[in-house]
Amino acid sequence: MLFRKNTLLQEIDYNNLPRHIGIIMDGNGRWAKKRGLPRSAGHKAGAESLKKIITEANKMGIKYATVYAFSTENWKRPKQEVDYLMDLLMDYLVNAEKTLAGENVVIRAIGSRAELSEEMQRQIIKTENFTKDNTGIVMNIALNYGGRDEILNAVRNISKDAASGSIKTEDIDQELFDRYLYTASQPDVDLLIRTSGEQRLSNFMLWQVSYAELWFTPKLWPDFKPKDLHKAVLDYQNRGRRFGGV
Ligand code: IPE
Ligand code: IPE
Ligand code: MG
Repeated sequence: MLFRKNTLLQEIDYNNLPRHIGIIMDGNGRWAKKRGLPRSAGHKAGAESLKKIITEANKMGIKYATVYAFSTENWKRPKQEVDYLMDLLMDYLVNAEKTLAGENVVIRAIGSRAELSEEMQRQIIKTENFTKDNTGIVMNIALNYGGRDEILNAVRNISKDAASGSIKTEDIDQELFDRYLYTASQPDVDLLIRTSGEQRLSNFMLWQVSYAELWFTPKLWPDFKPKDLHKAVLDYQNRGRRFGGV
């Protein structure tokens, strides 16, 4: 059976990789429940999954990945769970400095930072600075991220710049708007993956997914393996992207 292990990977066309993948990492809680474990155990397993998948995406030569780690709506969860998620994300950022930076990954956080603890805000800056000159995949961790919040933030900054005269209202086009997003200068999302069987956007990258191919799997995020990523990329390559043309 060994020779069959990498067949999916061998079918991938490396000249047609998605430039940017988005991942809605969903199903940690259900994964834990199935095992009679607390939800926190699911989040912990989910963080391990993330490391493996980013490492794999980087190896494959994918240039950008945005992963949904905490939404602007996730504050509605019990305080205990929110605290646990924040601690886990903090650990992730600290460890990523060593492990993922060693793998040449550029780590960035996207989302609204003001609501995060000062400690977390400092760590984000530290991790970003530590990895900014790396040349591998750019991983955006969407942390206190909401698509509507991102769009409003852009609108506010555009208004300020228009009021101060540094931009003209007539110059506001899609390309300019794009530069005001958290993902400024990055390509749009080509492939959006959501695990756990849910088929919705949950406020993720509303602007950037406008022409993304959507790929859903019933697998829960902690069970998502490199071979599932290969499958998603292969399926993506077999879709006919028309962008409104024929
Ligand atoms: C995704 O898993 C992780 C976060 C939203 C932080 P969930 O915690 O949403 O898991 P389910 O959907 O309850 O199974
Ligand atoms: C989306 O998952 C947010 C993250 C994966 C961080 P949720 O589990 O919060 O989404 P809903 O509530 O099911 O839409
Ligand atoms: Mg969920």
